[in-house]
Amino acid sequence: MTSKAQDMREVRLGLFRKVLEHCKAGSTDLAPDVMRIPAASYFDPDQHERERQRLFRETPLLVCLSCDLPEPGSFRLFEDTGVPIVITRSKDREVRAFLNVCAHRGGRVVREESGEASRFTCRYHGWTYDNTGKVVGVPSQEFFCDKLEDRRLNECPAEERHGLIFVLAQPGGTMDLDTHLGDFGKEMERLDFGQSEPVMEQKFQSSSNWKFAMDTYLESYHLPSLHGSTFADVFESNLFLLDMFGPHYRFTFPHKGLEKWIGQPEEDWPIDALPLTYFLFPNTIIAVGSVSANGSSFTTHRLFPTGVGEMYANVRMYALTGVKSPEHRSEMEGNFEKIKGAAQNEDYVVTGESWGSLSELPEGAEFVLGRHEIGVQTFHSNIAGALEREVSLDPT
Ligand code: FES
Ligand SMILES: [Fe+2]
Repeated sequence: MTSKAQDMREVRLGLFRKVLEHCKAGSTDLAPDVMRIPAASYFDPDQHERERQRLFRETPLLVCLSCDLPEPGSFRLFEDTGVPIVITRSKDREVRAFLNVCAHRGGRVVREESGEASRFTCRYHGWTYDNTGKVVGVPSQEFFCDKLEDRRLNECPAEERHGLIFVLAQPGGTMDLDTHLGDFGKEMERLDFGQSEPVMEQKFQSSSNWKFAMDTYLESYHLPSLHGSTFADVFESNLFLLDMFGPHYRFTFPHKGLEKWIGQPEEDWPIDALPLTYFLFPNTIIAVGSVSANGSSFTTHRLFPTGVGEMYANVRMYALTGVKSPEHRSEMEGNFEKIKGAAQNEDYVVTGESWGSLSELPEGAEFVLGRHEIGVQTFHSNIAGALEREVSLDPT
């Protein structure tokens, strides 16, 4: 067993012990108090614009996993923030990100969603770039009097860490990924996503504010009522652990029936089947083993606003240590369908049918978050903190 796997085993064992303590006591992790949030935070257009800038352009975002750019020459588009970006792995295996805007007169250089290419040619006038963003070919170059070596695709900060690829959707910006991840980086390292393999990908859409949809991932309170026929029989609804890593956190939503392990030897506990749900601030869920019985797969859910009341989630499933067999693949595909059923037909239907009514509430209306909705509480207070920091830095 690798030291990362050994470390993760210790983490899972500690979590399992805590879950059993809660089972014995009939308790759960809780916030110190209830919290109120303004209903307007879900529909205020000014707040929305500040979120788009502060959270989606000035905060590092998870774009994909290392296995999504497996070889030198692999590329993918990343356009979810509204900034057209292409990410590539170049010959030196470094991951780079570029604004997908031609340095000649603004043509869209890369048009395929993903693929393999060491060079990209803009179809407008045929300028060609290598995958470090450098111009390597210009038709009729003699008609350009300046030095074309100075022209290149604009670069955005991109970094690869622990099998994950992050980008700052801001050309010429500066990304401090280590500060952003903090101790969460150690947890991601322990999970060892570097061996994973992509299985499938889909987009789920909702006519709702992105935070209204994000909230559904951050508590298990709604399982019995909303997911009565999908997840309610599988997971405990009011027993969870929450561990904070700065604005990021790990939820442990255990499966039902774990109380039978109370008093049993620790070496027999099914710790690998304990589902771990990570929230990576501001917009990403990484759900490890939440629907597979053996913890061999995980999903990423990355939520993006396209307007104050429109959003989608890019959802991808991966095999944690690769797809082992055709049966393993079909089991994962079946699990993906379950996630899709719950998210698209239940969570996103509720958020979509409700969001439009929020602006009818009296001015100043507030919603209340219970102590067991600590994940939602923390999400909203961290967003408020991030937006306030922006305000305090504004010299005007
Ligand atoms: S705009 Fe790309 S080659 Fe002219
Ligand atoms: Fe849900």
